[in-house]
Amino acid sequence: MKIAVLPGDGIGPEIIKQAVKILDAFSLTDSIEYASIGGAGYDEFKDPLPEQTLNLALNADAVLLGAVGDWKFDKLPRDMRPERGLLRIRQALNLFANLRPAIMFPELVHTSSLKPEVVSGLDIMIVRELTGDIYFGQPRGISINDNGEQEGINTMRYSESEIRRIAHVAFKTADKRAKKLCSVDKANVLEATELWRKIVTETAIDYPNVELSHMYVDNAAMQLVRDPKQFDVVVTGNIFGDILSDQASMLTGSIGMLPSASLDENNKGMYEPSHGSAPDIAGKDQANPLATILSLAMMFKYTFDDQDKFKLIDCAVKKVLLDGYRTADIYSEGSKLVGCEEMGDAVVERLKG
Ligand code: IPM
Ligand code: MG
Repeated sequence: MKIAVLPGDGIGPEIIKQAVKILDAFSLTDSIEYASIGGAGYDEFKDPLPEQTLNLALNADAVLLGAVGDWKFDKLPRDMRPERGLLRIRQALNLFANLRPAIMFPELVHTSSLKPEVVSGLDIMIVRELTGDIYFGQPRGISINDNGEQEGINTMRYSESEIRRIAHVAFKTADKRAKKLCSVDKANVLEATELWRKIVTETAIDYPNVELSHMYVDNAAMQLVRDPKQFDVVVTGNIFGDILSDQASMLTGSIGMLPSASLDENNKGMYEPSHGSAPDIAGKDQANPLATILSLAMMFKYTFDDQDKFKLIDCAVKKVLLDGYRTADIYSEGSKLVGCEEMGDAVVERLKG
């Protein structure tokens, strides 16, 4: 197996280091190769997705990514900004299916801003389409319109085949879980999502065991905080999924706990924490590495079909939480406040049983 490791910016390198400790513990150090992306790619090669990084990722079986973005790159032309590197690698690897679980760990119920009874036991899987929609639709840009004023344009666009393939992933995911799928759209206003609803509804015929419902995105945002446990699997487009997955993550107390997988048609994947690069705490040994570590667990589950390693990592994370280890983002009185390194070491220790 070959794993491309792209630490990226901000807290990226320090959280990735903790996941690599786990690969070390599995004697998989020889499987990994590093490359730069985002601001780090720009600093090294004047490109947020350097050619050698893309080639490495294309030839690898899986990609482990830290995070991209730093304020110091905000003034660069849009194409040179760190986020662009992330969007380009998603598109180049055809990673159209983004799985973002929002799981409430029992030990962290009190770190949520919602009442314990609303969030305890929460287990939602957001399936976000990742290579289409207003993120990539043409035309786009800022230009001068006929009235001589500046105008910004983006285009929400979905083809039937793009909708169908993500719908299949979502139905299959739901079929392995509680068999409930909620498709989120804005079909009352946007034609692109009217088509979305139609195609998702057609796809349902292949999955008679899964109960399909539809919800407008504004209502979904409300229901997610009102009664999040009504959801099992949620499928939605790129922009709505971006927003709702941040919202869902916060139900669980901290975005620092949530992993993600971005998969192509053959389960080749890129694995990254759902959170960003947090430049304000970069290099201070304060970041929570658990989302990255859980992303590595997802890599074993989805790309390498190695359920043993998935469970080993998942259980080790549960044990550190049970033993009271907390980074600042999930800290509450009476628990052990630790830094990123110590949290990583604590997980590795518990891998051994
Ligand atoms: C995410 C991020 C990215 C996105 C940014 C960094 C481009 O917010 O992965 O959710 O919008 O997809
Ligand atoms: Mg986002």
